[in-house]
Amino acid sequence: MADGRAIGVFDSGLGGLTVTKEIIKRLPKEDIVYFGDTGRVPYGTRSRETIRKYAAQDERFLLKHDVKLIVAACGTVSSVAADVSHNLPVPFFEMVTHAAAAAVNKTKNRKIGVIGTSATVMSASHKKEILKLMPDAEVTAVSCSLFVPMVEEGWFSPEDVVVKETVRRYLQPIIESGSDTLILGCTHYPVLEEAIRRTVGENVALINPGVAVAEAVAEYLEINGMSAESRASGSHVFFVSDKPYSFKTQASVLLGEEIDDRKVEQVDLSSL
Ligand code: DGL
Repeated sequence: MADGRAIGVFDSGLGGLTVTKEIIKRLPKEDIVYFGDTGRVPYGTRSRETIRKYAAQDERFLLKHDVKLIVAACGTVSSVAADVSHNLPVPFFEMVTHAAAAAVNKTKNRKIGVIGTSATVMSASHKKEILKLMPDAEVTAVSCSLFVPMVEEGWFSPEDVVVKETVRRYLQPIIESGSDTLILGCTHYPVLEEAIRRTVGENVALINPGVAVAEAVAEYLEINGMSAESRASGSHVFFVSDKPYSFKTQASVLLGEEIDDRKVEQVDLSSL
């Protein structure tokens, strides 16, 4: 059995492209419909009520495109609004559970660090999931508010002095905690992976939630006979709520490939 419908992915903006990149790598034959809420980004500094309202609208938009499952690529939505997705008519994947499971599998000293937006860290979502799986784990979470604007500014080279110093400052509590595993709990952070790696050292395992979720989606599709039919490669279409041109120019850094102009369309979610 095969299911030719697309996988729906949404994020507060362009960051979710790091997750999309992992899904494409793991599932190259699948079609993808991506929605980035570029008109309302960032979500990470907003209230829980607002994030929940936006997430519900984003999901309704993807459902209109007849997707076969939905991935909330946004660490913030996954942390504070995953429950708005409980009654979705299609399977739903978020970024916290699978990242927590991957971290628990990886840690040897039971000390796990988490970095994310302030909404993500305030929610303690990763800690709750980690403790369900490993009740005696020590979790140290730090919000790194400048990482998202820094990446969007194109500052992510590990050689850049501003990047080096910003990463070092934010990660100091993680280093001091002795964590041997660190969850990159926000869409943009995998772009800083090399700078983070150099700061925390080779002995700390970095968990990219996109990789964990892509694997979970692949397993789900296979077990449920919902994979795309055999074909060379899937098509990927992108919708944004503002500035499709900026999205396109910034996308290659996060997606790892250029986005064709025609594939980025601006939409208005206010009536959803
Ligand atoms: N996509 C968000 C996240 O992963 C980061 C950007 C924002 O704050 O909206 O948490």
